[in-house]
Amino acid sequence: MSKTFYITTPIYYVNDVPHIGHAYTTIAADVLARYHRLKGYDVFFLTGLDEHGQKVQQAAQKAAMDPKAYCDRLAPQFQTLWKRLNISNDAFIRTTDLKHKAYVQKTLKALYDKELIYRADYTGWYCTFDERFWTEKDVVNGLCPDCKRPVEQLSESNYFFKMGQYQDRLVKYIETNPDYIRPRSRSNEVLGFLQKPLEDLSISRPKSRLSWGIDLPFDSNYVTYVWFDALVNYVSALEYLRPSPSFERYWPANIHLVGKDILTTHAVYWSTILMALKIPLPKTIFAHGWWTVSGEKMSKSRGNVVDPHAIVDEFGADAFRYFLLREVPFGQDGDFSREALIGRINTDLANDLGNLLNRSLTMIERFAKGVVPEPLATTDTELDNLLQQTAQEMLRTFDIHLGSLEFNRALEAIWSLVQLGNQYIDKSAPWTLAKKPEDKPRLNTVLYNAAETLRFLCLALYPFMPQAAEEMKRQLGLVLNFSKPLLSAEITWGGVLPGTEIAKGSPLFPRIETTKTQGDARVTQDQQPAPSPTDQITIDEFRKVSLRVGLVTAAERVPKSTKLLRLQVDIGTERRQVVAGIGTKYVPEDLVGKRVVIVANMKPAKLMGVESQGMVLAAGEEEVTALLTTMDDVPPGSKIK
Ligand code: MSP
Repeated sequence: MSKTFYITTPIYYVNDVPHIGHAYTTIAADVLARYHRLKGYDVFFLTGLDEHGQKVQQAAQKAAMDPKAYCDRLAPQFQTLWKRLNISNDAFIRTTDLKHKAYVQKTLKALYDKELIYRADYTGWYCTFDERFWTEKDVVNGLCPDCKRPVEQLSESNYFFKMGQYQDRLVKYIETNPDYIRPRSRSNEVLGFLQKPLEDLSISRPKSRLSWGIDLPFDSNYVTYVWFDALVNYVSALEYLRPSPSFERYWPANIHLVGKDILTTHAVYWSTILMALKIPLPKTIFAHGWWTVSGEKMSKSRGNVVDPHAIVDEFGADAFRYFLLREVPFGQDGDFSREALIGRINTDLANDLGNLLNRSLTMIERFAKGVVPEPLATTDTELDNLLQQTAQEMLRTFDIHLGSLEFNRALEAIWSLVQLGNQYIDKSAPWTLAKKPEDKPRLNTVLYNAAETLRFLCLALYPFMPQAAEEMKRQLGLVLNFSKPLLSAEITWGGVLPGTEIAKGSPLFPRIETTKTQGDARVTQDQQPAPSPTDQITIDEFRKVSLRVGLVTAAERVPKSTKLLRLQVDIGTERRQVVAGIGTKYVPEDLVGKRVVIVANMKPAKLMGVESQGMVLAAGEEEVTALLTTMDDVPPGSKIK
């Protein structure tokens, strides 16, 4: 019997359309689900909607709709988004499903029969937004300690779950299971919360105040508290959304992914409910951080809510998926901005990964008639060994990082191979090998190794960027089936078959042109004062600039300009036309055959009507005093770092 992996996202309130926060958890869960399927696990990936409670009732009222009709109208917004983001959930639960409702009632009845639910009068401070009571000592200046909105005093008769009696057991459980609540800092936070006496939990709402919910099976004047209803989804889904006996098969869930704001409800409410029901606890509850938008809290009133549909329209699902998981360590807060997203696309995706694929396939086309050539049987050059070892090592570290939900580090491991692949090509210089027939065997080996590196990358990228991985697979002519577990031969070096026909296509990630004109940035940069410490940049920012060695193959003056020269520059995989303001210092003849330093990811710009596809680096203030070159004759296209 195969190993199982059950992963869940929170079920989202249908009081509004989905935003980046919803997309974040769901994408993270999808990466883990895809990864485990590749590893041969029988995966159950559950997501869905939380459709009861005050928030949804109010939203429906505002839209002048019946709550169920309102939910039916909004549910497809989530389902469509998950399709567009290539979310591979196995089931989609809605808490208005009749079978879920029946399961919740069955659960409540079981607890009631065991006398773990009792009725009592209660006076407390109620937060409408969080739909919960607080005690006198929790409330600070009349505000909810959680959302900081005003609370109101309410006296009500309600049903309570005897949560308090599980306090010691829960504390002990968390202390002895350090992986139960992750990251570790969150586990400590929950333990801190549990230092105060744990009260019983009100699990009902009188219908006079809230009617949109599941009827209590033992008192029809009440509906179920929305959090009790919602948390139960994690087991009710196993009852009716999978063939039986799925509870035995998938429970305990491996991971409940949640945002940090809903950790207490999961770590305390859900854990104690499960204890009362004598159901084993999930293996891990992982709380991730929150996204701000361009440094600000995301909110409707600020008008800065990030609409994932719009991001997918503009940049595609894969770039969005990549960005969210690469930009911040999972568990920490992060900041979303268009600039940061575009930066990642242009640098990591277009420049590093896209370029490696593009140049490798171009060379296989040009030097091997579009067919992956046979490598030399024994290739023990240091360069080849390093590439091969790094590829194998990448898959190993990738496993470790994904196992600990360190998505950003898993992606870093992939990118270290991307970078090495590019260096491998630079150093092996296939364009030079192609000039001499006696170098043909070496050329073939280099081309083969480049294709094999890309195959490794394709495998590791699949959980994160399924569309891009499929496209890479197609262009590389690979026979890989991502819907089947990977075979051991597939994760061993040498899997690409010589003779495979490649099918080079359009770039995987086209560079995004930004609206600011960058073409003549140097002119203004020249006049900048020396950077102050606050102008310092990080290594990641520096890496956004793609600097390459270029070989000048032709040069001429731009007509009617004393300053501008038009250069043709070979940058390894392609030739660029670059217009440079160096004509008062150099004559064109001086430049042909010289190596220059090119900013290769500069947005093309027109200078006196001539397109410039890059920028050469030069010293000087107003006038250029010296063109930058390299000490040694490295191959064109070599990366400068
Ligand atoms: N319905 C409850 C969950 C019940 S689970 C049994 C709920 N729904 S929600 O729609 O309000 O929020 C769902 C998730 O979105 C939470 O995990 C929350 O952390 C996450 N996010 C909401 N805004 C967010 C950001 N700005 N950034 C990251 N995630 C955020 O709570």
